Formats: sequence, C-alpha cells, structure tokens
Amino acid sequence: MCGIVGYIGKEEAAPILLEGLKKLEYRGYDSAGLAIYNNGKLDVIKSKGRLDTLYKLTDGGKKMEGTAGIGHTRWATHGEPSDKNSHPHVSQSGKIAVVHNGIIENYQKMKELLVNHGVKFSSDTDTEVVAQLLEYYYEGDLLEAVSKTLSRLEGSYALGIMSVDYPDRIIAARKENPLILAVGDNCNYLASDVAAVVKYTRDVIYLDDDEIAVITNDRINIYNTDMDELNKPVVHIDWNISDPEKGSYEHFMFKEIMEQPKVISDTISPRLKGNEVILNELDNVRSKIDKASQIYILGCGSAYHVGVIGKYLFEKYARIPSQAVLASEFRYSSPLVDENTLVIVISQSGETADTIAAMREAKRLGSTVIAIVNVVGSTIAKEADSVIYTWAGIEVAVATTKAYSAQLAVIHLLCLELAKNRKKMTEHEISEVVSELKLLPSKIQRIIDCREKLQYYASLYFNNDSVFFIGRNLDYAICLEGSLKLKEISYIHSEAYAAGELKHGTISLIEPGTLVVALATYEKLFDKLVSNITEVRARGADVLGFASEKMRESFEGNADSAFYIPNTHEMLTPSLAVIPLQLFSYYVALMRDCDIDKPRNLAKSVTVE
Ligand code: F6R
Repeated sequence: MCGIVGYIGKEEAAPILLEGLKKLEYRGYDSAGLAIYNNGKLDVIKSKGRLDTLYKLTDGGKKMEGTAGIGHTRWATHGEPSDKNSHPHVSQSGKIAVVHNGIIENYQKMKELLVNHGVKFSSDTDTEVVAQLLEYYYEGDLLEAVSKTLSRLEGSYALGIMSVDYPDRIIAARKENPLILAVGDNCNYLASDVAAVVKYTRDVIYLDDDEIAVITNDRINIYNTDMDELNKPVVHIDWNISDPEKGSYEHFMFKEIMEQPKVISDTISPRLKGNEVILNELDNVRSKIDKASQIYILGCGSAYHVGVIGKYLFEKYARIPSQAVLASEFRYSSPLVDENTLVIVISQSGETADTIAAMREAKRLGSTVIAIVNVVGSTIAKEADSVIYTWAGIEVAVATTKAYSAQLAVIHLLCLELAKNRKKMTEHEISEVVSELKLLPSKIQRIIDCREKLQYYASLYFNNDSVFFIGRNLDYAICLEGSLKLKEISYIHSEAYAAGELKHGTISLIEPGTLVVALATYEKLFDKLVSNITEVRARGADVLGFASEKMRESFEGNADSAFYIPNTHEMLTPSLAVIPLQLFSYYVALMRDCDIDKPRNLAKSVTVE
C-alpha cells in the first residue's frame, strides 16, 4: 500500500506535500517522510508514527526549505514500522531519494548483488534496493539509470525519484500501482490518488503500467520502456471530491454509519423507475449477461462478504449457479470461468491489488466483468466491461460501513434485474421487493434511532475476549461481516460460523461467559437457529440475539439480550441486519478506547497482493 506524492514548482514544497499526504493516509499510516531538494543536497525527514508526528517534526513543513520534493505515507510490508524503514529511502551517497508504493519481489537478489559490490544498506525494506540500484547504474544520465533499474525489478511499483544532480525534475514510474501526474500553474505534481492534488489542480494525466515520466515545473514528458516519448491526454476531473469533514461526530466511522439511509437512497433511486429496476450501466453487456451460465463474485474482506450474500440471492431468486470467491484465491485456483461466465467484481476503492489481479484473470479467460465500485475513475472502474457505481461518497474510516451497504443495495438491484430477465420472478413479485427497497432508508434510520440499546449491550460485553457470530444462510453471510467489523476495530478475537457447523468442532471453544452473537432473521431457518442457540447456552454462552420484529414473540427468552430488526422482504434483510452489528462493534471499540477510524496494522486501500 502506501501513498506517494511529489511537487515541483515555485512554492515551498513541504507544506504542499504534507497536505497531499494527509489525503493519502488512508493508504497506510504507520510512518511518513519527506525529501526536499535544498541547495545542492536532499534534506530528508522521516519518522515512525502518524503523519502528525512528521507534521510536528517539520513544524508543518516550515523547517524544510525548497521548491521540489517527494513524500510518503507507509503501510509496512518489508521491515517493521520504524524511522529507518520509513520512506524516502536514499542511495548510499545521499544523492538519490526514492518513495515507493508496491513490492519489489526480487529485492533479496538485487540486495545481494549490490552488497557484493560494496553497497551498504541502512534499512530492511525492499524499496531501498531501488535507490541503491539507481546509484549503481548512474553514469551521468539519470533517465538511463532509471530505465536500467526498472528493467531489473520484479514486482509492482509506483515510484517518485529525485537526484541532487537533477534538481529541476522528479521522475515517476509505474507498474501495477496507481500513479497520477497533475498539471498546475507553473508547477506539477505526482500522487497515488487525485485526492492528494485536487486542492491545487483538476488537470491530471493517468500514468499507465511501464511508463516513466519526467516532471519539471513547466513540463511533463512521458516515455515507454523503449524511451519513445508518448502523447498522453490531460483529463479534467469534473466529479466532486469534496473533503469529508467529521463535523460534530467523534469518529468518521460513526458518521458514515449515520449516512447510510442517504447513501442507500442515492444508490437505488436513480436506478428505479416506478417499481421497475433500470440499470442502464449494463446496456453494453446485456447480451453477455443473458447467455451467462454461471456467476462468479470476486472481492476481498467486506466486499467479499457482500459477494456471499449475492451468491445466496442470485441462486435463490434468479436461479443462476453462483459462487463468491475471495479475489486473492481466485487467481491461483484454476477457476472454471469462460466466455459464458459473468464475473461481478466488488470493491470500494477500485484499487485493491488482489481484486484487480482476479479481474484481469477473469477477463483473460474470456468472462464479462461487471464492477461494483465506489471510487470513480479507479483502476477496476476503468478496466471492467461495465461499472455500477455505488454512490456512497468518500469513505474515510478504514472499516467500511456505508460502502458495504451501498454495494449490497446494488446486489439487490442486480438480483432483481437477473431474475426479471430470466423470468424467475413475476413483475408483481419484483414490484413487491422494489416497494420494500424504497423503504430501506427509513427502516435503517429506525435502527439507528435505537442505538442506545446497542450501546448498552456493548457495555455488557466489551470485556469479552472471544466472540462467535452464528447464523444460517443470509444470516451467516451477515455474521461474516459482523465478526470482521468487531475484530478489526476492537481487536477482540471473533469468528463467524454457519450455525449448523458449530457442533462439528468449534463448539468445544464455548465455555461459560463466551459471547455468541446469533442472527435469527431468516424465517425459514428460525427454529433451527434457535436450537443452535440452545446448544451454546447449555454450555454457558451468553447470547446476544438479533431477530426480525415478526419473530419477536417466538424469540423472547431465547437469548440473554435481544435486538429486533424491522420487517422487510426476505431478500433485503441483510441490508437491515448489518446496521446493528456495525453499531455494536463501534460502541465496543469505543469502550475499549480503540483507534476506531485507523485501527492498527490496517489501511483503507490494500494495493499489495
Ligand atoms: C473491512 C474492509 C476491508 C475491505 C477490503 C476490500 O472493513 O474495509 O475488508 O472491504 O480491503 O477493499 P475494497 O472494497 O476497497 O476492494
């Protein structure tokens, strides 16, 4: 992961770079650093810890003079988070500085080669080999050294490079990691994401794989690997990327949970006409969808959990064989996909490395790819055959909430569309679901309005050190997300289990006081789930149950604590059931005094495999 930024112009670079890094902290936040060209040398300040630490060390950038520089915010891959492993990394002489996002897979081999030539390394990172190789190959022509260095690297990279011998330029290069160049007024920029520069300019150039850019304050020249100059278009960003503010909320995660009624409405309303679903985004792939004999849904983490719900729904309502596969597993599992397979790729960021790789593999095998993506213009959005955007707005908290809900809403729309085309649901049945779909925002609001009860339950259970989430069918799929939410932000060990599976081994972990969160919204399997609850209670577990309102009477007394979810169409229950689980996790993390928006070891966008 990691975020990189560069600036060259007439202004002081450091404050601009710090401002850019602030917008890239979602990519990693375990350390940060800057390198600025200043009077014949490269000044480097870097440090373990959040960007705030670097901000203080540099006095908001005032301590670093110079009008050209590069910056980095890190999510550690090679080498623990520490001052020495923070970027920028410099060559042995201190004359070349590098910031890097990605992984150099053959760094050990390159390091050995350099060490054998007497090069001394000062960090444990893969990135340092890039700086050292550049110096090793440098014979007076920096671009030539860059070209030679890149030809030796295996893996992925977005790079920003500076040299004291070329104070008038920054060099950028990209392979399988996002990098944009931005055109300013008497200045130019590079960044991992448009968000880092949009305050200054909206004119950007998207660098593609295997391209190298030479950026000065008044020119950007781009070359391919043969060093032929390329003519690339400047794209004007006209979409809204306003900076999200926390306002009066203590955490972005809470604010984003609160925004869900609006987000669902923004995502579904433009795609409904009366009680009909209209997905114009699919027009160019409709014939492929019609002849698809199976569906694969690919994603990571929460996006994969949405895929699991999709699998259940597409099979039940559209009668299409479907499976949800973790993107990181898909690529290496010899998947049986072909031109008759519809692949649905789900990603908030649109930049998740595993998901991108899985999507490319699916396309290579001839499948049609529909992407459900939140970030406009992201890699997945650009490369898929068709994109359905989730209109969730920028999601800042690392743990996803509103983007998850928006993805789920799109899955509901897709399910109805597929069921209609295959004539597996009548117009009347579809219209019934759509009527309920329109009520989701108000029903979510009703749950949010009952949050005090969830806060109370959190106060009962926040000290547990092990939690099991159990449910069947769609409830199991929601358990996957509930369990992930709890563990990632509260650091409590938790697992999601298909309720019927618990007795095949895992029940041995249940002992007096173990918390079991049980989901019982799926009416058809309600009795079976209640039996599973009885089994864990018999072994001393405390049960926090979530059931639909219509089951209140039968559920009362079956759990130690219970929360009731408004009734809705069975297809849509997951959209409601997830909300109290998000809130419960939030309050538990709050009571445990965790860093809710930026949990340890995580990053918002996972751009390494
Ligand atoms: C969990 C979470 C992650 C992401 C996953 C995929 O709260 O946010 O599990 O869902 O890293 O990210 P995207 O959706 O950007 O591909």
